[in-house]
Amino acid sequence: MSREEKGQSSVGCQEPQRPPSRIGRFLSHFFYAVWASHQLGTLVQRPQGHCHPKIIKVLKDQAEKLTRSSRAFYNDNFPVFAERLRSIFGYDMVLPMNTGAEGVETALKLARKWGYEKKKIPKDEAIIVSSCGCFHGRTLAVVSMSCDNEAIRGFGPLLPGHLKVDFGDATALENLFKEKGDKIAGFLFEPIQGDAGVIIPPDGYLKAVRDLCSKYNILMIADEVQSGLGRSGRMLACDWEDVRPDVVVLGKALGGGVIPVSAVLADKDVMLCIRPGEHGRSDLHSGGNPLASAVAVASLDVIIDDQLVERSIHRATLHWQYKLNEE
Ligand SMILES: Cc1ncc(COP(=O)(O)O)c(C=O)c1O
Repeated sequence: MSREEKGQSSVGCQEPQRPPSRIGRFLSHFFYAVWASHQLGTLVQRPQGHCHPKIIKVLKDQAEKLTRSSRAFYNDNFPVFAERLRSIFGYDMVLPMNTGAEGVETALKLARKWGYEKKKIPKDEAIIVSSCGCFHGRTLAVVSMSCDNEAIRGFGPLLPGHLKVDFGDATALENLFKEKGDKIAGFLFEPIQGDAGVIIPPDGYLKAVRDLCSKYNILMIADEVQSGLGRSGRMLACDWEDVRPDVVVLGKALGGGVIPVSAVLADKDVMLCIRPGEHGRSDLHSGGNPLASAVAVASLDVIIDDQLVERSIHRATLHWQYKLNEE
């Protein structure tokens, strides 16, 4: 079968193997959501489904008014978006970006800056700890934390300043914090590892991470790009153990499956370590642009109004009941 027949382009770069379906052509968003959540758990990145009518309407209306504007100007939509995130998640501030990987990079920069300014880590010695099996995107800083040879091979030299620990092992984390805690700025982790195969940590792990990060004055950075916004049956996967990370990264569902929108949430004592002009300025593609902000608000509205968080629990319960009956 040619690449075109497989739904790929012979001009576009090579992609990993995918199911030979042309989803956009024939699956309604409802069917896709149900099918995908059962069959392709790790790949569902748009809980609102494909082309949700409310999100598409907002996208079209906003596209006819104003799409992207320079960060040098205020736009009416970003404050609404930021306020919506603040009211849902309770963090003081929002730093908007585009892709999930950009969101994670931003969180890493924020942690390093906080480490030097607030924790007084000696210049250029800050360490970020991440988990074995993690997936945080494809940029260079992010793949530098990867254990996946395919993600790393041929891309070196990797970025220094990273250490790894086994996912779900609070004792190993504490040992590392004991040994090097004075130079560790942040622990970046997925509360549920997605690409690794939907790995749920042992009970009590999220609480233990919270306690250890507080004890050793290390930022707890939850990458909720995949696990957040209702996908685990809670708004954040960290809500399962009622823990509040210092920094949360959101993405994927925030763009409603329509455009890339990500955001980093933190309180002022952390977020204000980055000052105007130090990060995030790209006039045309700046996160929080009018189009992205409007789409993100609509995407959050759909998650809440359509009760997607509650429905995901309901669906999962039905699914497991069905599976158990099958056995
Ligand atoms: C947990 C997690 N973080 C970050 C990313 C990167 O997001 P993006 O592909 O939007 O850069 C992903 C992508 O799957 C992810 O699963």
